[in-house]
Amino acid sequence: MIMIEPHGGLLINRVNTELTVDEYQQEVPLDSISLSDLELIAIGGYSPLTGFMGEEDYQAVVQTMRLKDGLPWSIPITLPVEDEIAQHVEVGKKVKLVHDGNVYGVMTVEDIYEPDKQLEAECVYQTTDRNHPGVKKLLERPSVYLGGPITMVRYPEKPKFKPFYLEPAETRKTFEALGWKTIVGFQTRNPVHRAHEYIQKTALESVDGLLLHPLVGETKAGDIPSELRMECYRVLLENYYPENRVFLSVFPAAMRYAGPREAIFHALVRKNYGCTHFIVGRDHAGVGDYYGTYDAQEIFNHFSKEEIGITILRFENSFYCSKCESMGTAKTCPHGKEDHIALSGTKVRAMLREGQMPPKQFSRPEVATILIKGMSESLMKAGR
Ligand code: ADX
Repeated sequence: MIMIEPHGGLLINRVNTELTVDEYQQEVPLDSISLSDLELIAIGGYSPLTGFMGEEDYQAVVQTMRLKDGLPWSIPITLPVEDEIAQHVEVGKKVKLVHDGNVYGVMTVEDIYEPDKQLEAECVYQTTDRNHPGVKKLLERPSVYLGGPITMVRYPEKPKFKPFYLEPAETRKTFEALGWKTIVGFQTRNPVHRAHEYIQKTALESVDGLLLHPLVGETKAGDIPSELRMECYRVLLENYYPENRVFLSVFPAAMRYAGPREAIFHALVRKNYGCTHFIVGRDHAGVGDYYGTYDAQEIFNHFSKEEIGITILRFENSFYCSKCESMGTAKTCPHGKEDHIALSGTKVRAMLREGQMPPKQFSRPEVATILIKGMSESLMKAGR
């Protein structure tokens, strides 16, 4: 069976756990974002990238949403280091990539450069506002970037839901074994609700299978922890999804909150995992009011279908309509807002924190029960 081509044509594999690294002196620290990026480069999630971006690719990505060779790529994948570290690093030499005292990889340094972070923020996040969680993170991270190809020599630990970490080569094999030719990928960082379920199942009506691919890397404070979100998926799949049509696996990347730019990135990466289709709904990867509701869909108009390669399935804001007595969108429901049950994330979090069940038309009771329990436990842990 012919699977969809990875981005750029070749699935990258830069894992070599046999490689000895003792001969290299210089250590370069990785924060948790760089560690997850190292893994995603190595396992081919970020194909065609073979390392952290050098200055030319970085500039091209920031300013044109393309790599220097013209291939679409919307999010800079960089390795920020402190000045003192950069001073001890030489172009052409290999360095060890270290996190919490362990060596996870080796990089041949090809580039050492200072980014213009204001420009990066303006282009990638469309704002320089420090209250934007992605911009805040960008500005907090060190100010010199190292670029060069990597090899990962040790996998990051997987203390939670280990069986759900599948590499792109493995999800591709799984789809093949299941006989799925068309697969829709679903990115998410929030607890699953009825609108998610509606757009997933609507998409599933026209393809063979659904890859539920919750992001489990670093997220901002206030987002629901990944263990709780996975638990919600477990009950939902058990009770409401056909077993042979859905595959649950995790996406170990950090969340950038870059809205439209991140939607492109999310789609290209899911193509590498073997998806042929990708869902982009309302305010995909958005935060606050920084992006228009459908900006993350419109940004795909900058590219031809061929160069993106994965088919984008766009969904309008979905809600439960009490007059239709079903889920729908403005495309399928003629009734007004007063008939629609749609709650903001903030409102739902407040309800759950108080131990109140959101309406069952918004969230499945099985899911809400898990969230209420999980949130009261985390509040207890926080001593509140
Ligand atoms: S995201 O940051 O990962 O995009 P979230 O988990 O809330 O956040 O969304 C996952 C996907 O579902 C995104 O494609 C988003 O656009 C879509 N989505 C979320 N809520 C709705 C909704 N009510 N109507 C339509 N699409 C939605």
